[in-house]
Amino acid sequence: MIHGELDLNAEASSSLEKLLPRLRTAFSEQIAADAQAWQVLTERLDAHFPALFRLYHHLYAERYDFFYHLEALLVELAKAAFSRPADLRALDLEREANPLWFQSNTMVGGVCYVDLFAGDLDGIRAKIPYFKELGLTYLHLMPLFRMPEGENDGGYAVSSFREVHPPLGSMAKLAELSRALREEGISLVLDLIINHTSNEHEWAERAKAGEPRYEAMYGIYPDRVIPDLYERNLREIFPDEHPGAFTWFEKLDKWVWTTFHSYQWDLDYANPDVFNQMAAEMLFLANQGVEIFRLDAVAFIWKELGTACENLPEAHIILQGFNALTRIAAPSMLFKSEAIVHPDEVVRYISPEECQLSYNPLVMALLWNSLATRNVDLLQQAVHSRFAIHPSTAWVNYVRCHDDIGWTFDDADAARLGINGSDHRQFLNEFYRGRFPGSFARGLPFQENPKTGDCRISGTCASLAGLEKALSEEGPAEVELAIRRIALLYDVVMTLGGIPLIYLGDEIGMLNDYGYLDNPAHKDDSRWVHRPPADAQRYARRDDPKSLEGRVYANMRAVIAFRKGHPELAGGELEALESGSSAVLMYARSNQGSRRLLILANFSEKEQLVSPWAVQQNMLVAKKRLFGSAQPLQNGTLRLPPYDFSVFG
Ligand code: GLC
Ligand code: GLC
Repeated sequence: MIHGELDLNAEASSSLEKLLPRLRTAFSEQIAADAQAWQVLTERLDAHFPALFRLYHHLYAERYDFFYHLEALLVELAKAAFSRPADLRALDLEREANPLWFQSNTMVGGVCYVDLFAGDLDGIRAKIPYFKELGLTYLHLMPLFRMPEGENDGGYAVSSFREVHPPLGSMAKLAELSRALREEGISLVLDLIINHTSNEHEWAERAKAGEPRYEAMYGIYPDRVIPDLYERNLREIFPDEHPGAFTWFEKLDKWVWTTFHSYQWDLDYANPDVFNQMAAEMLFLANQGVEIFRLDAVAFIWKELGTACENLPEAHIILQGFNALTRIAAPSMLFKSEAIVHPDEVVRYISPEECQLSYNPLVMALLWNSLATRNVDLLQQAVHSRFAIHPSTAWVNYVRCHDDIGWTFDDADAARLGINGSDHRQFLNEFYRGRFPGSFARGLPFQENPKTGDCRISGTCASLAGLEKALSEEGPAEVELAIRRIALLYDVVMTLGGIPLIYLGDEIGMLNDYGYLDNPAHKDDSRWVHRPPADAQRYARRDDPKSLEGRVYANMRAVIAFRKGHPELAGGELEALESGSSAVLMYARSNQGSRRLLILANFSEKEQLVSPWAVQQNMLVAKKRLFGSAQPLQNGTLRLPPYDFSVFG
């Protein structure tokens, strides 16, 4: 018989037909006890197994043991479906009925470290009233899984996905916390660190002990032959820590793929065992009540000789495969991609079938660029041509996060505006390190690469925006400007479209914390300068309108209240407008035919005039000012005070 091309849909249904009876036998007790779960599972398999099969087939069909792994994956799905708690099953149904819940204008995100913000998980629970005061509906807790003592990349070296790092609490506490948050309308967001484990994870320990199954989960090589071939095309991510992408371990007498730190071992997704085991960890965590996974370092998960091993098509297929699994066993789950890469690549992770949410590193970097240059052209261009994404997805817009700032704009975009990308990055680094004459910023270099001259920038929002320098060297006028800069950045991310994310501490203007230099586990990683512990005294001053904290906080509260009161800000429809001033970003927001809100943001410490043309074109005078202090003048222009952010509607 001659076989044509495989009809994957037909193969998918015949595979499912073969596998279902086997599942039914394996889970007969659970089915008898919980017929409902079985029925829901089979319905969702009918709907989503074909997609899962296609993806899995694409990755692993060449393997002789493909079908064995496929069955093992279905077993994990069934286990997860039966152990899904009732409240999460209810949430699944609710979100299936309202899949765009995350686009609401009431959404506001916050992110913090458990230990630095509140000591432990109980401490976080005790902060729920504060999260509500601030208006959060999304809380990302930085990695809290068991991690090595000492250096652990802020928890991004995971020793067990099933255990909470003991000083922070326990898995049971985490599940309780997720429930307590959910009851208050706050979704728990956790990292799923899929690219690597710590070198102390059980899988790594067993690989070290020479167990072939576990050795096959990582990129482990007996000599330099293969690593050298790969390294011809690889970028160095943490060049301060080790050159290249591999680390030699004496005990093993082998080279291990370590994209980030040498204690973070890259997993090898060419092995279906890795996909399945990570899937099991993910489904386990989903059942603890995590509602959104921040998928860490997604760009790096697939390696292919002769490529840069970043953003490869298979990386997308793996993520789509994980997504299909959640559609079956935990459909309320959303994914957010952390791809801090070229803007053309960032958007490729975003789709309903892959990551419904994504950091917006381009807007973040260009907000800082606009502050430094007092020129919004690059930002305006990005908002105009790089903001639109699938209508069922959303950007997560942010000002600062726990990582450094990299200047990830496109060189061709910059060239169109007459800007030389690499010179400009150098300028930005000088500016934010505070070395450029007149700079207001107090940042630190991160991973300066002597070979390439590249570096990235660390520093808190307040210190980069000028508050630290103003307080120590200048005076009240500069302090006022710095406070306005902080407000301006957050005003933009609160209104641009998507989910705004506050790096907690920014809402009260936390400054750089140089104490990290005294900690041997942190001193070589300048990102710790912007990870200060929450200072209770400072937080206590947030209601004092005369205090610094109070002034920063009042601005944040005002824009959040504005966001929550304006459904026009839901969704992601955004129109870039011309203000006629190179310092003024102008855009319109509306949602599904609502009235338009016109928004203006002055990125200069000088007053700016918006041209009569822009005023007339957008019928600004006929509108009401809803926020900010812009004033129409007799001559038809609109005057914006320094760093003003105004909304008309
Ligand atoms: C992500 C994290 C970063 C970490 C890296 C390695 O980029 O945001 O903090 O160092 O992954 O896990
Ligand atoms: C690199 C990675 C990014 C990560 C960062 C951590 O830029 O591309 O994913 O957040 O390093 O510093």
